[in-house]
Amino acid sequence: MLDNLGSLERTHTCGELRKEHVGSDVVLMGWVAKKRDFGPLTFIDLRDREGVTQVVLNEETSAEAHAKAKDIRAEFVLGIKGKVVEREGTHNAKLATGDIEVHASELLIFNDSKVPPFELEKAGSQNLASEDLRLKYRYLDLRRPQLQNNIRMRAKAVAAIRQYFDGRGFIEIETPILLKSTPEGARDFIVPSRIHTGKFFALPQSPQILKQITMIAGFDKYFQIARCFRDEDLRADRQPEFTQLDMEMSFVNREQVYHEMEGMFNHVMRLIDVEFPAEWPRMTHAEAMRRYGSDKPDLRFEMELQDLSTALKDTDFAPFRETLDKGGEVKCIVVKGRADYSRKQTDELQEYVKRYGAGALAWIKVGDETTSSLLKVLGQAKIDELVSAAGAEKGDAVLIVAGRKSVVAASLGALRLEVARREDLIDRAAYKPLIVTEFPMFEHDEESDTYVAAHHPFTSPMDEDIELFKTAVNDPSQHHLLGQVRAKAYDAVINGYECAGGSIRIHQKEIQDLNFKALGMTVEKARERFGFFLDALEFGTPPHGGFAAGIERTCMILCGTENIRDVMAFPKTASAQDLMMDSPGEVDESQLDELGISVE
Ligand code: AMO
Repeated sequence: MLDNLGSLERTHTCGELRKEHVGSDVVLMGWVAKKRDFGPLTFIDLRDREGVTQVVLNEETSAEAHAKAKDIRAEFVLGIKGKVVEREGTHNAKLATGDIEVHASELLIFNDSKVPPFELEKAGSQNLASEDLRLKYRYLDLRRPQLQNNIRMRAKAVAAIRQYFDGRGFIEIETPILLKSTPEGARDFIVPSRIHTGKFFALPQSPQILKQITMIAGFDKYFQIARCFRDEDLRADRQPEFTQLDMEMSFVNREQVYHEMEGMFNHVMRLIDVEFPAEWPRMTHAEAMRRYGSDKPDLRFEMELQDLSTALKDTDFAPFRETLDKGGEVKCIVVKGRADYSRKQTDELQEYVKRYGAGALAWIKVGDETTSSLLKVLGQAKIDELVSAAGAEKGDAVLIVAGRKSVVAASLGALRLEVARREDLIDRAAYKPLIVTEFPMFEHDEESDTYVAAHHPFTSPMDEDIELFKTAVNDPSQHHLLGQVRAKAYDAVINGYECAGGSIRIHQKEIQDLNFKALGMTVEKARERFGFFLDALEFGTPPHGGFAAGIERTCMILCGTENIRDVMAFPKTASAQDLMMDSPGEVDESQLDELGISVE
């Protein structure tokens, strides 16, 4: 027989009782984290969201409660009436309530529980249950203190963000979820319309166009905690459904947007007692790529990319010669103190860079004697020259990649991170913010030989590059110059994570039309997709810009986790499924009929 709550009211949480409560009569409620039976004494660790308290049931002083506890197992839901007593010589330093225990006089069993499919206590440790199992029983996994803390940190972060923007005069405006396709470059999730059979809504990849329209509508400063949906390949820091802090402001330059971006993140980071500089360091995209091979460099460690192209400018060695002649480059990283890399280790690292398109990984080990995979082809003198060009010292390993600039950056940028992980070079207590500026306006798609928007098609080119932009669009023979146009686009990067991205927007119709042309979009196509917006642009659009920050990415930094699912209450798997709800699922034939849809 289970007990009812009745009129019983809880007096304290399970994380609250301290020495000063000794002698008080208390009522606690919570879940059984652990139970230990020692004959006449039964110990229960009672858990709620605030912590754990040890409860003691004594056969001598409360026989009824002691007897009732016999069948209790983990995750049963209990109420306990009792007295707070100081622990005798068994103070538990690991528990905040470790100075006391509660001697129960009465025990209520509100509910029982099936045996959980995994042990909650162990779920977060090394012998952790498979993540799929934990996702299926997400409500159990969420009972673990670590996930409880993460989800609560997320709530605090969102509250802090609201507080920040509200305090700065921004207006929170909700935009619709049932929308038309938005332009973030991923695939849309689409929703069929019943009333307009054969027509579809698209879920927002971001509220980009609508927030720009709020500027045209004169709101001046907008923000929203916005849910976004992108049907794209998932990675450790990506989900198909995620949340952004989205903001936009009128009559501003880039620095004014950076100021709000810094202000917001600095306010949020104080939740974990991290004080960022009022003004973050800034780095152009070109410099970030050159020095770190990444547009989101992790600045918690150095190991910058070094260019060996000059030292090799006269080389006859065919792979390097051809690379340099074709405008490619030869670059390296120096791994301090790892002249002792084994063949197996350099082979592993070579396999690693191949994933990023590199043909091979050459190495030099600066030991008592300098050895190198290139010794035979380059000769000792050249190797010594490369060592000094790389800035390597005795004891170091030099890891070298040659190829197209994009491949060298991608592979050495990734290798830099991989080596830092393997060598434990990352200071986990450090937080390094950076604003990366002047992103390229376009990315070249080699397969189709077309240019796509690097950020999105409403991003403004840099004033300095406007003429270049116009020439590249209007003169077909100069189309390739699009690759050189820089945009007023920027990212906020913390510890190697892209936490936010934004831009100053195009606010003049003429430039917007040119941009669609640059992207190979006909006037008709542009009108079909964004006609309403192009119309709006012609009714007095103020200069404006903004950014959006990934709430999950930001919370990953706050919670110190590399798994995005750790900061979402109900995340999806890497294959975009919800294992708890078992979604996506099938729908009734009748629902499909109503929508005029048939599944092949
Ligand atoms: P962007 O596409 O850069 O910009 O997105 C902004 C930020 O959102 C986060 N983010 C994601 N987080 C989790 N899962 C995903 N799949 C995912 N995709 C993006 C990142 C990213 O920095 N409309 C523009 C913003 C603007 O220009 O104002 C936009 O959405 O942290």
